[in-house]
This record gives sequence, structure tokens and C-alpha cells, in this order.
Amino acid sequence: MARVFGSLQGRTAVITGGASGIGAATAEQFLAAGASVVIGDMNQDAGHQFVSDLSDRGYQDKVRFQGVDVAEEEQVVELMEVAESDFGSLDIVFNNAGIGGAIGPITELNVAHWDQTFAVMARGVFLGIKHGAKAMQRAGRGGSIINTASIAALSGKGGPLAYSATKAAVVNITMNAAVELAESNIRVNAVCPGIIFTDLMHRGRTEEAEQVIKKIQPSTLRGEPEHIASMVRFLASDDSVFVTGTTQLVDGGYLANGLLGVNPLPGVSNRPNYAGMNHGTTGQGNEIRFLEPKSDV
Ligand SMILES: NC(=O)c1ccc[n+]([C@@H]2O[C@H](COP(=O)([O-])OP(=O)(O)OC[C@H]3O[C@@H](n4cnc5c(N)ncnc54)[C@H](O)[C@@H]3O)[C@@H](O)[C@H]2O)c1
Repeated sequence: MARVFGSLQGRTAVITGGASGIGAATAEQFLAAGASVVIGDMNQDAGHQFVSDLSDRGYQDKVRFQGVDVAEEEQVVELMEVAESDFGSLDIVFNNAGIGGAIGPITELNVAHWDQTFAVMARGVFLGIKHGAKAMQRAGRGGSIINTASIAALSGKGGPLAYSATKAAVVNITMNAAVELAESNIRVNAVCPGIIFTDLMHRGRTEEAEQVIKKIQPSTLRGEPEHIASMVRFLASDDSVFVTGTTQLVDGGYLANGLLGVNPLPGVSNRPNYAGMNHGTTGQGNEIRFLEPKSDV
């Protein structure tokens, strides 16, 4: 019988940061392709609400929510166990949770904020690969791991300094893990989103951001979470069975156009005049202090 392209029938996926943005869009595409999905997120309110919405749409037997901080090893172990206990095995892990992290000029960055940024986006991806791969090895049928990096990994000025460094780490972890796990038939790839309109990126300033991005992004489309989810679904499925160790750019041509040496996004400048910690959409408040001269963030 001919294979159905894009099918994830009979597969189980774990998605971190699955309560919002790119992770949520990916959960919807995975479910539509036939997978069972465990959504892991630190924002419990958003996670429960999303799973309740998905259940109302008929996916109640296919979806679970598990509160998790991806920086905490025991919690990541438990997250993978939910997939095994509720759905029988684990086939796909999407390590996607992210925050803005430490922000400000390098001379103002706080060490605790730096460490927290790496804990979520570098340690979190390491732990997701480690325990995802162990669960896949237990089942013995291979699998696919996808990690969210960013265009910020591939250039200067694509994002805050600490954030960009974690994403560069994700690109490299992806290559080394892919080499190591190939003998277990586990593929590992990264996706680098461009400017995607989620709460993390534009902080509610959609129109302002859209105007700036139109000037520098060749594609006339607005980057949406679904654009990234489609690539992740491809990487998760057998359609990409010979693809491993790669970093896939999904950015509407943004990097091809160069970063132009200007600051594209509202509130971003060569030397930001604010510093602190951006906790993204986790539900934790941001910690920002202004440097002189003061300006809008
Ligand atoms: N939006 C963009 O333009 C863009 C561009 C490049 C890369 N990315 C990356 O894409 C990923 C998803 O971002 P998004 O734009 O969908 O943001 P989002 O804020 O909409 O979603 C991120 C989710 O991650 C969760 N999260 C954060 N820290 C966590 C932790 N420690 N443990 C568990 N969950 C945690 C949040 O609660 C949130 O639900 C991130 O890794 C981000 O860095 C986004």
C-alpha cells in the first residue's frame, strides 16, 4: 500500500513550550496528522486551557498536558514518561520551549540571568534530547527529535546576545547528537525560525513590528507559527527519513537578505538602553531596568 505523505499515524510526540505560539501550532498539525501529543509547558494555565480546547475539538483521547520546567532534569524525565505510560511509546520530541532571556548590553548582563537563559534554552534542549532518546531507545523503533534554534544563531544582531548564544549551542548540539544517535535510528534536526508573530516576538506591538519587517524580509507573507510547524511536521515524519544533523531555515528569506546592519525590531538597538530578564510567555513577570538615556522597550 502506498505510504501517506505527512502521516504521523500511530506516533507519539512530546512538545515543549507547546501551550503557545510555534509549539501550539505544531501540536495542532501533529494531531491533524494522526499523532498523539503530550504538551509540556511551564505555563500551566495556558497549557490546561489549550488541551481543554483541543479536547472540545475531538482530540481528548490523543492529547495530554504536563506541567514542566525544561531546565529541571527530573521534570523532563517525568514528561517523557507521560508519553510512554499514556500512549505506549515515544517517537517524536520537539524541544521548543523558549524565553527572551537576559537582555541588555553585555556590560550590564547579570550572571544569574545569563545562567537562567542557558538553563531554559541550552540545558533544556540537552535534557530533552537525553531523555527523549533514552525513551526512544527503550522502545527500539527509532524516532525524530527536532530542536528550535533561531536565525539569531546564525548571525549577529538577530536577537539578544545571551539568547543568540543559546540558539547557536542548539545548532551544534543538534549535529553532535545526530551523529551519536544515528545508530539507534534516531534523527536529530534543528529549525531556525525567522520573525514569527507570536507573543514572545512582538510583545503585542504587531503593527509596528510588521511595518519594520516588511522593509527587510523578502517574502511578503507575515511569519506565522504554522509556517514553522509545517517544517517540524516534515522533520517528524518519515518524509524526511534521510534528513539528520541539519538546521532548517524557515525565515521568508530574511537571512538571505542580510541583517542590513540595522536594528529591525521595535525596542532593539546596537546598545540597548535597558537590561534585565525577559521571561517570555511563561506567566512570570519580566525584570527590566532602564539605563540612561531612558527609552521605550
Ligand atoms: N517567535 C519568533 O519570532 C521566534 C524566532 C526564532 C526562534 N523562536 C523560538 O521558538 C520557540 C517558541 O517560541 P514562540 O515564539 O512560539 O514563543 P511563545 O512565548 O509563544 O511560546 C513559548 C512557550 O515556551 C514556554 N516555556 C518557556 N520557558 C519554559 C520552561 N523553562 N519550561 C517549559 N516551558 C517553557 C512558555 O510558557 C511558552 O508557552 C522558542 O524557543 C523561541 O526562542 C521564536
